[in-house]
Amino acid sequence: MAIFYNEETKTFYLEGKGISYVFGINETNFPEHYYFGTRIGRDELRYTTEHNIGDSADTALPGQIHAGGKSYNLYRSEFSFYGNGELRECSFSMLFGSGSRINDFNYETHEILPEKPALSGMPSMRGGETLKLTLKDKNSEMRVHLFYTVYDDAAVVARRMEVENRTAESVKILRAYSFALDVYGNDHDLLTLENAWGRENRPERTHLPHGTLMIDEKSGSSTRHHAPAFALLDRDTTEERGNALGVSLIYSTSFVLKAQVSTKGYTRLTGGINDFDFCWVLDAGETFATPEAVLAFSDEGIGGMSREFHDAYRNHLINPRYVKKPRPIVINSWEAVYFDPSPARLMPIIDAVKGTGIDTFVLDDGWFGARRNDRAGLGDWVVSKDVYPEGLAPIIDHAHKAGMKFGIWFEPEMVNPDSDLFRAHPDWAISVPGVEPCVARRQLVLDITRADVRDYIVEAVSKILRENEIDYVKWDFNRALTENFSRALPAEREQELHHRYALGFYDICERLVNGFPHIFFEGCAGGGGRFDPAVLYYFPQIWASDDTDAYMRTQIQHGTSIFYPLSAISCHTSICPNHQTNRTLPFKTRADIAHLGATGYELDTTKITSEEIGEVKTQVADYKEMQDLVLEGDLYRLENTFESNYFAQMIVSKDKSRAHITVMRALCRPNDEHKRIFPRGLDKNAIYEVVNEEYELKMRLSGAAIMNVGLVINLKTLDQKMPGDFKTFIFKLVKIA
Ligand code: GLA
Repeated sequence: MAIFYNEETKTFYLEGKGISYVFGINETNFPEHYYFGTRIGRDELRYTTEHNIGDSADTALPGQIHAGGKSYNLYRSEFSFYGNGELRECSFSMLFGSGSRINDFNYETHEILPEKPALSGMPSMRGGETLKLTLKDKNSEMRVHLFYTVYDDAAVVARRMEVENRTAESVKILRAYSFALDVYGNDHDLLTLENAWGRENRPERTHLPHGTLMIDEKSGSSTRHHAPAFALLDRDTTEERGNALGVSLIYSTSFVLKAQVSTKGYTRLTGGINDFDFCWVLDAGETFATPEAVLAFSDEGIGGMSREFHDAYRNHLINPRYVKKPRPIVINSWEAVYFDPSPARLMPIIDAVKGTGIDTFVLDDGWFGARRNDRAGLGDWVVSKDVYPEGLAPIIDHAHKAGMKFGIWFEPEMVNPDSDLFRAHPDWAISVPGVEPCVARRQLVLDITRADVRDYIVEAVSKILRENEIDYVKWDFNRALTENFSRALPAEREQELHHRYALGFYDICERLVNGFPHIFFEGCAGGGGRFDPAVLYYFPQIWASDDTDAYMRTQIQHGTSIFYPLSAISCHTSICPNHQTNRTLPFKTRADIAHLGATGYELDTTKITSEEIGEVKTQVADYKEMQDLVLEGDLYRLENTFESNYFAQMIVSKDKSRAHITVMRALCRPNDEHKRIFPRGLDKNAIYEVVNEEYELKMRLSGAAIMNVGLVINLKTLDQKMPGDFKTFIFKLVKIA
């Protein structure tokens, strides 16, 4: 039992791994938050409410003259609604047919469910004991159901909401966030991830002033400008120490997350579906469900919070079929040949890496319809006779003969205006009749809120998958939604478009992922433009960035790992000078950095030397040796290139018997200061053998010595071998006693 209800004090205690989440039904029948943090006992916490500090200038409860400390504007809310004295950011607002926007929701009943009820039509965390709390509007028959789920193997609380219209009329939902939470204190930092093509997931830490800080996405894609996640930190929280409370939304389209510091010394966190340009018509008898938000807490700093998210997503979100399974190690055609993926170009590329251990060849863009460049053909999912006169069979056979599986690229949600699909169905693109649309990357977005469009996509993709021996799909999504308008929706429902788009996307994923259970799917969105937990639910890994420069990757992978496990982050070794930055880095470094995720290669392998082909073989073998750590281990971010000339990440097996440390020195500085790396997460009482093969280093040290004294980066040896920038240094640790 992880959820307890004390009937006498009307208090709920939700207990996950090492955490307590406590709230109660207060004297005015409203659910009020008491505590979320490190596990405590089941003490009576109502003493913390301090309602008496309310003054007569505060709003009162309905029917009362003075606040007397009781007001929706003073309560620490689990849920907050507009119109009845709540003047902070509310998590819900609606419009009745009369024009009234007033709600007054109070506790009605609750259930503790041993099995988490399924969230229909949307991905969510699997399993976990769940509390369903039902609130009733005093003035109407509207109901709100708040769901809370806790887990014994991760310090997270999953939260979502359902709105049920038990009135006799249609109402409009103007705002329906997934959660609201009032945290004690007005002196926090907020950690967010800024996102842009080529430099995804850049962490930013901001001290919160009084007022509201908001990140959002209006693009219809979860991660084009910000990751759908943030973390509230104490001022002195670091990577290793201090309180960190993270929020991550399981949602793939326009979202909002807000942190509001109020004048009463609390910080409100709330968010979910972006209510900018949102209005949902909820007919009588219908229920509207929000996406799920995952709240993680750790007192072991940002790193501790990351490890909780990693465990939660590996144990309860990613498809269990793949979570511990070695991932395909791919050679992808994109940076190798771009829009020239002919068998004549690709077969030698496959041949060059035959026998290296690379086990999957992925045919990227350009194999279908009139897609000889990005101007035409998108949407026409038929094999191009120009490029593949005999169909895909010859290239698939060729890959098979080289011992590789075959993967293929699709961008199913899009259409080029110059395509047979668009010529046949111009109304299938999201656009407003009579309005010139914005044609980003020369393409439009298909209106997958429509069942006929979804059926077309599922059938077109399925046909290719049925008719060819395909084991892997890379699913791309290369532009934002604009001119938001569906020709199939009635006028009053046009502002439902983005949410309906997400539901349409999930429906397509559901049908294809379940329809082809042997196929491994990878997500992608012009790099990492839609890197979110909902995509991760369907596709166990996501391409993190089109920027394959290993130095940039140290930053992108660092930021991405704050909320997502390494196994989710797809990383490729590419050619140098790098196509995005023109930078040249050692081949070993490129592979060592790509190995800190779901690794692969993406380069013209006919253009590298036979020594480098030999290196590929060694690199793949090394990866296979460490892959279980990437899939299941605990990540410790030791240094990062935002703050240091060094990058260092360490992965430790759950039983602490093995660890892998990758260190990169960014710039070589002659006669540099001595450098040590301070590993973490080891068993301090155990003895480890520490090996660095390249520099013939082998020593036996206790976990305590390794973590406290540190490991020396042997700069002399590093530079004697070959001085230069961006050199990596690998330590392998094995517990021997
Ligand atoms: C996007 C992806 C790339 C590649 C191209 C193909 O940019 O991020 O990896 O697939 O599309 O057009």
